[in-house]
Order: sequence, then structure tokens, then C-alpha cells
Amino acid sequence: MTGRIPTPIRGIAPGPVLEVEGLTAGYGGPPVIDSVSIAAKPGAITAIVGPNGAGKSTLLKAIAGLIRPTAGAVRVKGADVTGLPAEKLVSKGLAYVPQVANVFPELTIRENLDMGGYSRKGGVRERIDQLFKLFPDLAASSHRKAHTLSGGQRTMLALARGLMVDPAVLILDEPSAGLAPKFQGLIWERIEEIRSTGVAVLVIEQNTRETLRHAQWAYVLVLGQNRLEGPGQKLLDDEEVVNLYVGRLS
Ligand SMILES: Nc1ncnc2c1ncn2[C@@H]1O[C@H](COP(=O)(O)OP(=O)(O)O)[C@@H](O)[C@H]1O
Ligand SMILES: [Mg+2]
Repeated sequence: MTGRIPTPIRGIAPGPVLEVEGLTAGYGGPPVIDSVSIAAKPGAITAIVGPNGAGKSTLLKAIAGLIRPTAGAVRVKGADVTGLPAEKLVSKGLAYVPQVANVFPELTIRENLDMGGYSRKGGVRERIDQLFKLFPDLAASSHRKAHTLSGGQRTMLALARGLMVDPAVLILDEPSAGLAPKFQGLIWERIEEIRSTGVAVLVIEQNTRETLRHAQWAYVLVLGQNRLEGPGQKLLDDEEVVNLYVGRLS
């Protein structure tokens, strides 16, 4: 997003910037995710869908370095980053926005973005200006403390904060969780804009139907394992998939 966005060459599809192979992880007991493989491409929205408790958040945490995988590999831009802690992954091009506790409530919007850019070599102010263009609501209240913001604004701030480091891969765990349904459309608009800048967006969202509509590629996770994958719209058009995995969920 710094003006160095690679222009895709017509006819040559870009390869994945995030590759996850046979990832197994849990919380000390039996594995919660078992040999899961996924990939995410630049400029695309990749979604993980599946029933509650399927292991979607656990998969994201294992990719983002919050829990340590017991088997498998994670590669970002071809580099092996398996088991690296979250703070090291930032410099490898991976940013993770957790479902909760994703902003500092006592800091202002601008201070939150400053903190988000701590690992940048420079250009923090320029980057904040760019992000204020993408999130005009934040620009208008940059002096406000995060805890005084509406839920929707706070989510926008969490997204912007994740983008401060110019990630190649942006991982979002239910960005619209806890928000009124009317905010969902707004958040998808922003995610689409982020995608259009060439970022690989990997997302879990509550509303499976809406998520599949936006996803260039989606993985259905059931009981911690890969069950199905395909273009989001194609999965939506498949009656059996909808009956089994979507109808009950959205
Ligand atoms: N911090 C944790 N410690 C122990 N078990 C957990 C923890 N977080 C999630 N789990 C368990 O892992 C399983 C998958 O949870 P999760 O990854 O949150 O699923 P999803 O995001 O698909 O709803 C569930 O059985 C849940 O109880
Ligand atoms: Mg979850």
C-alpha cells in the first residue's frame, strides 16, 4: 500500500503469499486443528468458514504466532515462519487483528496508529495520512481516545492499525463481531478496498453467506480439518454445500 503495488501481468496469476501446510495445533490437549492446509493470494480475499468450534480462530492463532504449532509449516512470501512469535511475524509481512482487545482504549486514534507503526523504519506520518484517506471517519476524530469510539469506529481503527506495517498478509478474526448488522456492509467495503491494494486478506466472519460472496477462495473447516474448498460464489451455488455448511450457519 505504499505506491509500490505490483501490477499483475495479464494472464499470469500471482502465487500465494501465505502458504500453510499440514498445520497441527491446540492448547496442550488433543490437537484442535489437524493437518490443515490453506493458501492466500495477494489482492484476494480468502475466507475460512465452518461451524462454531471447528477451529477457525485456532488456525488463525497458529498462523499468527499466538500459539505454537506442533506440526506443519507456515510460509510468508516463501520464507518459513513456522513457530515465530507474533511480534517477529510483523517484519515478515504478516499482520493479525484479533477478535477482541485489538486497540489500546486509553490512547487516541492517532496514538494507536503510531503504536501500530512502531516497527516501521520510517514514514509513520505518511502512512497514517494514507490510512486516513482509506478511513475518513478516523481522520475526523484522530484526537479521540479509542474507548470513546463506537464499536464500528473501533473496528475501523483496528483494521487501520493492522495496516500500519504495510503487511503482505492481513489476518482478520471476525472484524464485525459484536457490531450491529448494519456495520457489516461497511466493514466489507473497507476489506474490499484493502484487498484492492494488493494485500492478501485472510478472514473469518460470522455471516457465512455474506463471507462466501466476497471470498475469491474459501476453505470449509470441520472438526479441525479441511473439508472443502473453492471460489466462495461456487460454494454458495452448490446446493449440497449450502445445506450442509451454510444454511445452518448464516
Ligand atoms: N484458549 C483455549 N484453550 C483451550 N481450548 C480452546 C481455547 N480456545 C479455543 N479452544 C477450543 O478449541 C476448539 C476450537 O475453537 P475455535 O478455534 O475458537 O473455533 P471457531 O473459531 O471455529 O469457533 C473449541 O473446542 C474450543 O473450546
Ligand atoms: Mg472463532
